[in-house]
Amino acid sequence: MKYSVERIRGQFPALAAGAVFFDGPGGTQVPQAVMDAVSAYYREANANEHGRFAFSRRSDEVVAAGRAAMADLLNARSGDEIVFGANMTTLTLHLARIIGRKLQAGDEIIVTRLDHDANIAPWLHLQEQGVMIRWLEFDPVDCTLKLESLGRTITDRTRLLAVGGASNAFGTVNDLPRILAAARTAGVLTFVDAVHYAPHRPIDVQLLNCDFLACSPYKFYGPHSGVLYGRREVLEQLDPFKVRPAADSAPDRFETGTKSHEAIAGVAAAIDFLAALGQELGSGCESYPAGRRRLLKQALAAVSDHESSLFARLLAGLKEIPGVRIYGITDPGRLHERTPTACFTLAGRTPAEVASRLGDEGIHVWDGDYYAWEAMRYLGLGDRGGAVRAGLSLYNSAGEVDHFLNVLRRLAGV
Ligand SMILES: Cc1ncc(COP(=O)(O)O)c(C=O)c1O
Repeated sequence: MKYSVERIRGQFPALAAGAVFFDGPGGTQVPQAVMDAVSAYYREANANEHGRFAFSRRSDEVVAAGRAAMADLLNARSGDEIVFGANMTTLTLHLARIIGRKLQAGDEIIVTRLDHDANIAPWLHLQEQGVMIRWLEFDPVDCTLKLESLGRTITDRTRLLAVGGASNAFGTVNDLPRILAAARTAGVLTFVDAVHYAPHRPIDVQLLNCDFLACSPYKFYGPHSGVLYGRREVLEQLDPFKVRPAADSAPDRFETGTKSHEAIAGVAAAIDFLAALGQELGSGCESYPAGRRRLLKQALAAVSDHESSLFARLLAGLKEIPGVRIYGITDPGRLHERTPTACFTLAGRTPAEVASRLGDEGIHVWDGDYYAWEAMRYLGLGDRGGAVRAGLSLYNSAGEVDHFLNVLRRLAGV
């Protein structure tokens, strides 16, 4: 079957009234199936885990199904490598403190200037115990990491490298295979922030060979929640902060207190929504073993094709508007190196003004630094209101892109 934006949009009640939603990097809308799964959880389960009565047993099933779905999405070896939490930031702050227990003064952690602060600040906090931070910088011209300095940045004191899969500001897709291989060769633990990457590209934690990878289901059509993948052997070696009566086995011992079971029900439904899309669109991944993972790969391949062609249209239109300055990769031959997320300013207008005018026309975009706090300051945008961000998702259409460009042209006085 052909990719049909109308058919996909029909599953998203929030878009029925015609909202042009370009804030996927902030959080996507959810399909009806996710809403149904959340409300079914309240109707049919809604209890604590590990009890001896029906509602509790159903809650156990919901959590197990959520872990299995996430394991399929990330290609984890089993649901035991999936930790659920409130959001990526909370999970990362928690994990950093836990890893910090094993570190000594003088040990080093590498972070990048390109990342969202949720993959920087948690590691910076470890400076309080004498951990040293080393920065991987990025090129301000195309907002790509300066990988030529990676070899020099890793030393014999490096204990962990924290890197993003893709920048939530400029869309830059980082060369994870290269970065992670360099860290692994040096025996360094690796943590990947895949929050912005996950909605746009398939992820395979076994192929990447990373130790940790975090993402946020609310960025890929699910409920507000966070997920941390941890390689089983590494999770078992860590000594998490926890309350004493809580389970001592992984992944439960990394999950502080009661989880949002209703959100977990919605996470599985979001993944099944993507798998159903893969089933509908088919083809391309037949060599991969049959099952949900294959369907997810098919879905993400089709979504990525759709988003890339829309994004090429958006970028080409933006480039022609006088006064627009685009940040990140703009070379049409290199668009596969970025997600469909545009970051730009318009001369003579503040980013807040541009976002409000677009908002008045029903176009939802963000302005500011989107917590890519270091990167925006490095580019000199930190105290100038940041920039406008327009991010495309699987339900966006060429008509919406054209509407967005028309409003911007008017605003630019064209
Ligand atoms: C790249 C990236 N990392 C981390 C986060 C933080 O995720 P959460 O809101 O789940 O804490 C975000 C949120 O926008 C993000 O875009």
